[in-house]
Amino acid sequence: MNAHGGGIVHHSGTYYWYGEKRGGTESQGVNVYSSKDLYNWTFEKLAFSPSDDKESDIAWGCIIERPKVIYNKRTKKFVMWFHLELKGQGYAAARAAVAISDSPTGPFKLVDSFRPNGHMSRDMGLFVDDDDVAYHIYSSDENYELRLSKLTLDYLAPTASDKLLFRNHREAPALFKYNKKYYLFTSGCTGWAPNKAELHVADDLFGPWTSLGDPMRGPDAQITFDAQSTFVLPVAGKKDAFIFMADRWKPKNLLDSRYIWLPIDLKNGTVTVSWKDQWKLDVFK
Ligand code: DGJ
Repeated sequence: MNAHGGGIVHHSGTYYWYGEKRGGTESQGVNVYSSKDLYNWTFEKLAFSPSDDKESDIAWGCIIERPKVIYNKRTKKFVMWFHLELKGQGYAAARAAVAISDSPTGPFKLVDSFRPNGHMSRDMGLFVDDDDVAYHIYSSDENYELRLSKLTLDYLAPTASDKLLFRNHREAPALFKYNKKYYLFTSGCTGWAPNKAELHVADDLFGPWTSLGDPMRGPDAQITFDAQSTFVLPVAGKKDAFIFMADRWKPKNLLDSRYIWLPIDLKNGTVTVSWKDQWKLDVFK
């Protein structure tokens, strides 16, 4: 599968996995795969493509990372956000970009790209709360800050509710909600090299956020099992069942990067992720 830094939407009984399509290291857009059971995946389409228009923000040569898709019940549209870097500028542009589609498999069309409320935006995630209000969580200020912005009702833009969560030099944010609390996985900032994960908890998405330290357990736990957080998948139809998704990057050939999926262990009121050589969905009750 070629779907890195990705995220998953469950819609009408099907899971859709969106992720970076890489050719060697080049960004080639966003692929989408589908599955009914999380075990068997079918390639659907290139859901979003860079543009042949050399003047476009998404002209070939741009960098497209960490695509996340959410479904808007109000507008019935699928909305994709991703980290965009403009062609030939390395990681200097630090923008978020938004694309939209009527169908889960695309084609997604670019709506806009920007720095949310003027803030740099690199690694990012999206989160839809129980009241259908959506949020964009993003690494800002050269990745020193982690910020959260509440989105407009159509999910296409940030609102002015945009706040600094903490200033710890973290990236790769992955948010989930369990037992009325919000939990947030992040990584340190060491390029493609793996590092120590950290888990934060809060009663309110805008904080205050409290660190719970490194939640990983087992061999190579201190380098997140040689991987980096990307998404937390709530398993459809099961209560308190969440899968931690991470990327095991191969920077010389990003196309060949691998995926780590582990069940999040919620026993005894603690949140941890233990290494397992293999596991099945029946670990969730
Ligand atoms: C770490 C980020 O988490 C990745 O998505 C990517 O931007 C690399 N840095 C680039 O070095």
